[in-house]
Amino acid sequence: MSDPTSRREFVKAAGAAAIAASLFPDDLWAQRPTRRRYAIVGTGDRGSGMWGRDLVQRYPDALEVVGLCDINPKRTIAARNYIGVSCPTFTSIDEMLDTAKPDLLMVTTVDGFHHEYIIKGLDRGLDVMTEKPMTTDEAKCQAVLDAEKRNNRKIAVTFNYRYAPAHQTIKEVLLANEIGKIVSVDFSWYLDVVHGADYFRRWHRLRRNSGSLLVHKATHHFDLMNWWLGADPVEVQGGGTLQVYGRNGTISGENCRNCAHTHDCRFYYDMTRDKRRMDLYAACEDADHYYRDGCVFREDIDIFDNMQAIVRYSNGATMSYSLNAFMPYEGYRVAFNGEKGRLDVRSYERQPWNAPATHEIYLTKSFGKRTAVPVPKLLAGHGGGDDRLRDLIFKKTDMPDYMRLPDSRAGAMSCLTGIAIRNSIDQKKPIRIADLVTL
Ligand SMILES: NC(=O)c1ccc[n+]([C@@H]2O[C@H](COP(=O)([O-])OP(=O)(O)OC[C@H]3O[C@@H](n4cnc5c(N)ncnc54)[C@H](O)[C@@H]3O)[C@@H](O)[C@H]2O)c1
Repeated sequence: MSDPTSRREFVKAAGAAAIAASLFPDDLWAQRPTRRRYAIVGTGDRGSGMWGRDLVQRYPDALEVVGLCDINPKRTIAARNYIGVSCPTFTSIDEMLDTAKPDLLMVTTVDGFHHEYIIKGLDRGLDVMTEKPMTTDEAKCQAVLDAEKRNNRKIAVTFNYRYAPAHQTIKEVLLANEIGKIVSVDFSWYLDVVHGADYFRRWHRLRRNSGSLLVHKATHHFDLMNWWLGADPVEVQGGGTLQVYGRNGTISGENCRNCAHTHDCRFYYDMTRDKRRMDLYAACEDADHYYRDGCVFREDIDIFDNMQAIVRYSNGATMSYSLNAFMPYEGYRVAFNGEKGRLDVRSYERQPWNAPATHEIYLTKSFGKRTAVPVPKLLAGHGGGDDRLRDLIFKKTDMPDYMRLPDSRAGAMSCLTGIAIRNSIDQKKPIRIADLVTL
């Protein structure tokens, strides 16, 4: 294909075998309207929204919510009201699994606890879906992989970013071999002072909860890259510091609603204007003392706000990666440097100027011309990724084989990249992925 001008041509070149989502095996699907008995552990924003209320409203024939579990009993009740169901609520996963008897478990807790619930679900023979990152350190990762093996079951890691149409387009251009062998990649992700700062307000600010943004956030980016390249990470070397948030602040408090600096803090956030957050978090604070509007300058913050890494892949390519959480704009830039040309991508998510489009993708052939690659319109919910992922699982929509549900291997390879970079920063040396877990 020498002069691609339409997305359809890329798709044709990439091949398209329809697949079914493994969470609804054909025999089970054929029994519909038998609904899957579905339970959620972790009933915060994601559990009650994307994997709660939205599912109940979009796929009433596919599932029945039979139990909700969270360490905060008030939040499970708030979530149940929001989801609009009448199932029992629990603070113990064992009790929920014993009494509600789900056959499909969704894990949407704080990242550092994902492994506990994935393993409990697998050990009881359930199908398990987990939000990203699959887990936060190498020992927990090994435990998840071992549990999957001993139970001969499969988990799905819900990497919604893969399902954004623009990201599928990038995959298809690369599959069509338009730029030949990929030698290197330049990848920079920008989190702005709104979204980026929000991680420093919440539980994510502590490594023990999130594994740092190299794991919590960058697992999306590393999964995209592993998938785009069709390769595994082999070795990483990283750098990272905390330059703006945490102890860098000259003023600080506990949380914005109880702070003396509401007028002089540029990061002041008024949560009282968001009813859903007031219901889900503020109204439940006395049960766990979790403050959704925590100060971004707290002393205990132990994650980085700017990170860099070099990653070497199994296909010989290298990536230079950076993630910054205090940028004046939100989006990313990625460029694939191939033997026969270069693919440049710029994503505009939020910026103080009028951006030309949500994504710009250009294919430039060496000794040739530059072609704009048509990008499907950006849709709501992580660029359209949320709905397309849910439709794949709960409607069994046909998608090409390269859009199949990400499994534990994808979950492991992406979170291990971030874990290895974090270890590399701590230990001041390159880290090999193969030294972290046995697959
Ligand atoms: N794919 C995406 O785009 C995306 C977007 C946002 C969040 N997420 C993921 O979803 C998950 C939830 O994030 P959120 O934004 O909903 O956070 P949240 O703080 O709103 O919810 C987390 C919930 O977990 C509960 N919890 C904490 N420790 C627990 C434990 N030990 N056992 C049971 N419950 C526990 C908390 O009480 C809270 O209700 C995270 O893993 C996050 O990485 C993914």
